[in-house]
This record gives sequence, C-alpha cells and structure tokens, in this order.
Amino acid sequence: MKILFVISVCLILILGSCAQKPHPCRAPPLLEGKLTVHVPGEKIRVYEKFYYDAFGQNVRVVAYGKEDNKTIFADRLLLFREGVKYDIHYHNQTCVKTALKVSFIPVEVPHDAHFLHQLVIGSSSRPGEGLLVNNWEGIVSQTKEHYFMSFTEFGCLPIYSIYFTDKMNVDIMTSFYDLVNGIEDPEVFIPPSFCDSVKLREAKDDTETNFFKALL
Ligand SMILES: *[C@@H]1O[C@H](CO)[C@@H](O)[C@H](O)[C@H]1NC(C)=O
Ligand SMILES: *[C@@H]1O[C@H](CO)[C@@H](O)[C@H](O)[C@H]1NC(C)=O
Repeated sequence: MKILFVISVCLILILGSCAQKPHPCRAPPLLEGKLTVHVPGEKIRVYEKFYYDAFGQNVRVVAYGKEDNKTIFADRLLLFREGVKYDIHYHNQTCVKTALKVSFIPVEVPHDAHFLHQLVIGSSSRPGEGLLVNNWEGIVSQTKEHYFMSFTEFGCLPIYSIYFTDKMNVDIMTSFYDLVNGIEDPEVFIPPSFCDSVKLREAKDDTETNFFKALL
C-alpha cells in the first residue's frame, strides 16, 4: 500500500513537470470567419465577415454595424504589402483608394505576451461541451496599449482580444467565431475593376496602429 502511494506521488510529480506552459503562437495564415468589434467609448458595434491572408498580407472585411444611432456599412480591402486600402461601394460602382501606411500585424499571441491561465470555456464534463483556451496579456511596445487575449490551445485560433488604449480612452473588444481554415475564394483580395482608374489619396493620419484598428 505504502509503495503504491509512493509510486503514485512520483507519477504525479513526473506528470506535473511534463505539463508545459503554453507558448505564444500564431493563427493559421489563411483564415476566414466572422468577428464582432465593440468600441464602448465611441458607441461602435460592428459585425464583420473577414478574410485574412498572412502570406500575401491581405485582409478583406465586410462590416455592418452601428455608430451611435447611425447604421454603418463598409466593404474594405487592405493590401498591406502594396500599402493601399480600398473602400468599395458596389451599389454605385465607386471606390475610394487610400494609402495604407501601417505594417501588417499577423493575428497572433505576441512573442513577449505573458501567459495568464488555461481554462475551459463552457464545460469539460462531456466531449463537445467545452473549448480549451489560453489567456494572455501584454503591452504593445510602440503604443503602450495594454491587451488581453484568448486563443484556443489547439489550432491557435483567436477567441477574443481587448485593447485598452489609454491615450484615447477607447477599449476595443474583438470576438471571433465561425472560423474556417483557408480562403474559399482568393478573388476577395482582388479589387473590382471599377477601382482600377481611381487615384490614390494620401492617408489623413497614421493613427491606424494595428490590425484591429485598421479595420475600423
Ligand atoms: C439615439 O436614439 C435614442 C433613442 O431613439 C435617443 O434617445 C438618443 O438621443 C440618440 N442618440 C444620438 C446620439 O442621436
Ligand atoms: C457612392 O456610395 C457611397 C456610400 O454610400 C457614398 O459615400 C459615395 O458618395 C457615393 N458616390 C457617388 C459618386 O455617388
């Protein structure tokens, strides 16, 4: 009996030392899905269908939402490598082409993020009832923004992120759902032909400091 106890204590110690702390990770390079962005300070709530290509550094978002009481709709194509942003209006076949002066930031847990904890969203009682996620926090060095984010343990898929922008006192909350690996239609990253002859406008400001804000 005593020996059995000693063996099981040893086993627990061995297993404990084997259980590794999660490492920061990067989301799959080709993703599409849905997200909601909530900026409480500015009363913005947006639902987006998004397409994300980390190889080509392209992002397309079709957004529908509310800003104060106004309904907003946007169809935006961000080509980070070319440094161009298109706002596409299919209904009147017009296009606004603006310089995009921010660098592409992949969807990832930054390498210097601090691991907070691992937990199950939902329940772990029965298969299919829960989702194992890792929570992280950190500070964006360029902007000093504090962030909090949650990614799945398996697949490194984003669940949500919160950015605390103390300068403007705006918190940006993004939740991701219905994600699919891969891009079904690569043409989502090609601007429609009525955008071809449009002249490039200079960006009004360079405050679009990260991926999530570039989408707003
Ligand atoms: C938004 O609508 C509500 C209710 O209709 C109204 O009370 C409020 O003043 C409106 N806010 C703005 C900013 O227009
Ligand atoms: C086309 O539609 C957009 C969005 O509704 C509007 O902002 C723009 O002024 C329109 N352009 C023309 C030329 O009508």
